Amino acid sequence: MSKPSILVARAIFPEVLQSLAQVFEVESNQADEVWSAAELNRRMQGKVGALTTGSERIDAALLQANPQLRIVANMAVGFNNFDVPAMTAAGVVASNTPDVLTETTADFGFALLMATARRVTESEHFLRAGLWTKWSYDMFAGAEVHGSTIGIIGMGRIGQGIARRGAHGFGMKVIYHNRSRLSAELEAECKATYVSKEELLKTADHVVLVVPYSAESHHTIGAAELAQMKPSATLVNIARGGIVDDGALAQALAAKQIAAAGIDVFEGEPSVHPDLLKVPNVVLTPHIASATIQTRRAMAQLAADNLIGFFTQGQAVTPLNTVTGRAA
Ligand code: GLV
Repeated sequence: MSKPSILVARAIFPEVLQSLAQVFEVESNQADEVWSAAELNRRMQGKVGALTTGSERIDAALLQANPQLRIVANMAVGFNNFDVPAMTAAGVVASNTPDVLTETTADFGFALLMATARRVTESEHFLRAGLWTKWSYDMFAGAEVHGSTIGIIGMGRIGQGIARRGAHGFGMKVIYHNRSRLSAELEAECKATYVSKEELLKTADHVVLVVPYSAESHHTIGAAELAQMKPSATLVNIARGGIVDDGALAQALAAKQIAAAGIDVFEGEPSVHPDLLKVPNVVLTPHIASATIQTRRAMAQLAADNLIGFFTQGQAVTPLNTVTGRAA
């Protein structure tokens, strides 16, 4: 019996590719080219499953052009590259990779917060440029992290991981804003207090964004929200590009309306707003919050297991939708 054909749209760990090859006929992209929508569509022809990353858009046009497609497994917890309602309507299973990246991503949220508040990269650039000629009392004096107030917007699994680190590791006061309030047990575990978005922006020393991207969360932080923050505050975005209005942020940083920002995700990435590159008080990283070898391997294997589970057991491991079968 011939194996089902799948597409792996970007380079992944060879051992994960091997596990897929035991079950599927695999077309892979180990050269790691980023395909246009037309090229993705062309490669998808005849494939019943696909493993994608956040770079590949799965939309109604692609689904219509590929009536054979049954499942697309995203190697990411975020899935704003998927039109999930269109996939559900077309009877195509969508899956993501939750849980396996939670703690690693929360670690990075904290790393970015520390680097931003304590001006780590700015001071390193100064040193590397040979500008360090003497010690002085206020050189690269940053903001206190321990004992300060952290405001978390988006209190899912990763937000809760950041809250636990802040409350238990750094003695921070934790406030949060979320679409829905956490249970009393989870609030107690995270030592977190629910507040309005406005109160959070006005009172937090450090604002961390971990909210999923959607039309409603687009520009959660824009000029108006930046104006509400303390001039001494820092902002960290490990959520998604588009959650922050990057142009407005660059202006606020240049005007010292807020003290500093740490940004891992960008509007239109891998392009970065040119004004962000001009301001010194921002730490910029290339979408690496989940990037440890162990976690990226676990994400790739979970994405592969979704495909394997679907075709061998009739059930994806971490599906995002419930479908009744591919419409004819
Ligand atoms: C990374 O951004 C992810 O969504 O996993």
